[in-house]
Amino acid sequence: MYRRLFERERRARKEAEQHLEIKSRALHLSNQKLADLTNDLHVEVKRTKAELARQKALENQLILAQKMESVGQSAAGVAHELNTPIQFVNDNLNFLKTSFEDIEQLLAAVDSLVLRCRNQGMLPKQIAAIDTVAEAIDLDFVRTEAPLAASQAIEGSQTLARIVKAMNVFSHPGTESFEPVCVNQLLRSTLTVSRAKWKYHAELETEFSDSLPPVSCLPGELGQAFLNLIVNAASAIGTRGPTNAGVLTVGTSLQGDTVLIQISDTGCGIPPEIQHRVFDPFFTTKGVGEGTGQGLSISYRIIVELHRGALTFESDVDRGTTFWIRLPVEQKPELEKSTV
Ligand SMILES: Nc1ncnc2c1ncn2[C@@H]1O[C@H](COP(=O)(O)OP(=O)(O)OP(=O)(O)O)[C@@H](O)[C@H]1O
Ligand SMILES: [Mg+2]
Repeated sequence: MYRRLFERERRARKEAEQHLEIKSRALHLSNQKLADLTNDLHVEVKRTKAELARQKALENQLILAQKMESVGQSAAGVAHELNTPIQFVNDNLNFLKTSFEDIEQLLAAVDSLVLRCRNQGMLPKQIAAIDTVAEAIDLDFVRTEAPLAASQAIEGSQTLARIVKAMNVFSHPGTESFEPVCVNQLLRSTLTVSRAKWKYHAELETEFSDSLPPVSCLPGELGQAFLNLIVNAASAIGTRGPTNAGVLTVGTSLQGDTVLIQISDTGCGIPPEIQHRVFDPFFTTKGVGEGTGQGLSISYRIIVELHRGALTFESDVDRGTTFWIRLPVEQKPELEKSTV
């Protein structure tokens, strides 16, 4: 009797244990599935976040490219409008200057006539009248200062003409195909339009090779890349304080079938721990409103992706930074279809 009861209970316990085992195994499998699903979900969330960030970066680059294009177009429009009046002012100033030089010859002849009359006591009334007029108009001052004023005005209008020409070259609206360009000239134009950014705290030194062949490039885009690097160099020098004048060096040389462009500054340098991030879109160490962190990423795209060149740098904290741009002199034909 006891034995039967014992056997029944043992069977029941075994069945319960087996049942529990099956349930535990099912639970374990469900747990594993849940873990896999959670993992997949994490991966998916991460992927979506990265995709969103990429889309945002692309959107921002597009907005910036459109903004730059429209700024470039208005600059080109303004430059075009200014061209004729500046030419005009320059021509008229040159005319005034040469006319004044002619009048000066006449005045010198009048001077010697007046002197002779005065020495010989001739025409005293007329001579006195001339003296009165000369004094009233401050003739001596006018004769010394007027030619100087004309020369300075001509110099100013020539500077204006140079800036306008540089704006024109620089912002030439979307030259969409590769063309042979003098890189030295493009650098000079870029330095002219960006002068306000560097002239207060940097001395400019240029070392342009005079044996560069024309480089096949998209001049608008390349000018933009040069500008970004020059502005960065100027602000790196600027961070060392207003009294600490630095040197901005821009140079070119020919190395085989590659043109090498150097843009160096004696600014704050790039600390080693951020050097690997400077080409990342939106990476900036500048304050809000001072930098968007786009300059180097755009320059990289222009030089490396569009022109099949190279953009590298060397930097020492507190000593300065040198960016090197390498551009092939010739572009392969299939590349000539790309634009930014
Ligand atoms: N010549 C340089 N000297 C020192 N630091 C530099 C130099 N060039 C770039 N950097 C560093 O790299 C960062 C990224 O440069 P980038 O030109 O991409 O952006 P930004 O200058 O900060 O902003 P933006 O160019 O959009 O106005 C800068 O914030 C700066 O920290
Ligand atoms: Mg910048």
